[in-house]
Amino acid sequence: MNPFEQAEVLLQEIEEQVLTNAQDAEAFRIKYIGSKGLLKDLFAAMKDIPNERKKEFGQLVNELKQRAESKVNEAKISSAKASTKKSFEDLSAPGVPYVVGTRHPINIVKNEMVEIFKRLGFVVEDGPEIEDDWHNFTALNLPENHPARDMQDTFYIDFNANRLLRTHTSSAQIRVMEKQKPPIRIITPGRVYRNETISARAHCTFHQVEGLYIDKNVSFADLKQTLYYFAKEMFGSDNIRMRPSYFPFTEPSAEIDISCFICNQTGCSVCKHSGWVEIGGCGMVDPAVLENVGIDSEEYTGFAFGMGIERITMLKYGINDIRLFFENDMRFLQQFS
Ligand code: DAH
Repeated sequence: MNPFEQAEVLLQEIEEQVLTNAQDAEAFRIKYIGSKGLLKDLFAAMKDIPNERKKEFGQLVNELKQRAESKVNEAKISSAKASTKKSFEDLSAPGVPYVVGTRHPINIVKNEMVEIFKRLGFVVEDGPEIEDDWHNFTALNLPENHPARDMQDTFYIDFNANRLLRTHTSSAQIRVMEKQKPPIRIITPGRVYRNETISARAHCTFHQVEGLYIDKNVSFADLKQTLYYFAKEMFGSDNIRMRPSYFPFTEPSAEIDISCFICNQTGCSVCKHSGWVEIGGCGMVDPAVLENVGIDSEEYTGFAFGMGIERITMLKYGINDIRLFFENDMRFLQQFS
């Protein structure tokens, strides 16, 4: 076969090939127009063609090359189209609903509390959940063997290594006062742990927001006004009362009660039929605590409070079982979207 005949045969062959997918197209490309393909031999044959026919031969081989190239391109385009089609089979089908998560009610209320206290100039601070005896107890005026330690059943991680799960966010007060000089105006929201029997009213893990204000001439009146402002902003009513109480780290101390919004003070299980629900404790920081962290108690005074976020959330939303917060039941959580 002379090169003209070879070219004719190849052209025929190329026209007859059916390329159904991308692999076929690639094999075809390598065979005919690849760097070692059959067309290469034809181009090489050019040198043996008599001069007067070189032009004719050149055109023939070029046509062959163009045909082969366009066949490869067509095959690649149609196989790409076919694979796109597969992933969007029915463009008119209704969409799959996209489930949007919701914030946990504890987080919603925590954020709200933070916003309220921020408006009064409090800044957010943080402390570790794994604490030592000094920050959780001793510095807060609860030395070893102090009977008030029994008020909070503690989870010890390692008693001898002095590691425990904090029983209250008051430990964060100590950490802040150790590193910062007055004036101090902070809140520390966070999780706390107590070895309590789980019931509708109590859980072994819950959340508190601790507040601390240390400056010159801070008085009990400042504390009261702060709590009134909080209650008004949070519940739309400042119907709270303060009952004299005892905490080792405050003197005087009080318990903060808010009127029961669940039964409107007619009596229910949440308020133990008293019409009032305790939401936290508060008081004037005991001078001994200030001295423990190197703050001059002659020069500075301060107030502190600690409130349970679960309790406040239950009141705000009329939830009657604290365990609901920890079960992650979607039917419960989605009500807060
Ligand atoms: N730490 C107390 C508790 O968990 C609550 C508390 C009471 C915090 C009085 C305070 C405070 O800052 O002044 O029971």
